[in-house]
Amino acid sequence: MPEKTTWERFFDAHAPIYEDNVFTKNTVNEVDYLLDELHLPPGGAVLDVGCGTCRHAVELAKRGYAVTGLDLSSEMLSRAADAARAEKVHVEWVRSNATQFTFPGRYDAAVCLCEGAFGLLGDSDDPIDQPMSILCNISRSLKPQAKAVFTVLNGAAMLRKYQNNDVVEGRFDPLAMVESSEHPPQVGLPAVPVRERAFVPTELILLFRIAGMSVLNLWGGTAGNWGRRSLDLDEIEIMIVACKTAEPLAVGVAGQLRA
Ligand SMILES: C[S@@+](CC[C@H](N)C(=O)[O-])C[C@H]1O[C@@H](n2cnc3c(N)ncnc32)[C@H](O)[C@@H]1O
Repeated sequence: MPEKTTWERFFDAHAPIYEDNVFTKNTVNEVDYLLDELHLPPGGAVLDVGCGTCRHAVELAKRGYAVTGLDLSSEMLSRAADAARAEKVHVEWVRSNATQFTFPGRYDAAVCLCEGAFGLLGDSDDPIDQPMSILCNISRSLKPQAKAVFTVLNGAAMLRKYQNNDVVEGRFDPLAMVESSEHPPQVGLPAVPVRERAFVPTELILLFRIAGMSVLNLWGGTAGNWGRRSLDLDEIEIMIVACKTAEPLAVGVAGQLRA
């Protein structure tokens, strides 16, 4: 088995208390919102990337959709399986790094919410290649014209949060838009060092275009406070609504495009 990534270590240890986070308390309304955006056929197939404890996946399954939940953390997936059993619904589980899976053309929609993998960098992940491969994998998994909804960290808010001394002391890299910090996954456990990537809207439009998706809307996507409102500089997360329009362009090492 390959060594666990920092996020896998973090979420394996955080899993028992994940659903205590206040931002997880609005799932039913969030699924109403998703269904308004995704225009799914009855019983359509939905991929939830970085599904965590599968709060959205289980609610979608309760409403009759065929859901696949993909996550790196076996402990998060184990909670997800318990939740599906308790609700008597079927969800397909895939334990995988989102940079590595492939289900070509299988899904009517995809969601990647609350930084479900996209923006959560492992310690050696490249800040362009890692999100690019996740986007391309999601795009390849979608049927033509299928929709996807993501929420990601807002680069404007991250730039406003940090000062030059944070750059000098290694807490923020403005070239890569990466924040480095340490968090204990639970009270009493040792802190895990983690890296989080933020994005600016023009960059998102370009990354999605390379991945074969057109961005339809960029809205306020802060966890627990989604809304079809214009982005404000301090909005913590951006919501991206996108549509699969083409196959991804081939992307090589260090984000270079191949002919
Ligand atoms: C903040 S949680 C979000 C969970 C869920 N989407 C939600 O809205 O509650 C992020 C999830 O992404 C998963 N994750 C992080 N990096 C990943 C990767 N590279 N591949 C797959 N899953 C990943 C973590 O294990 C965690 O369960």
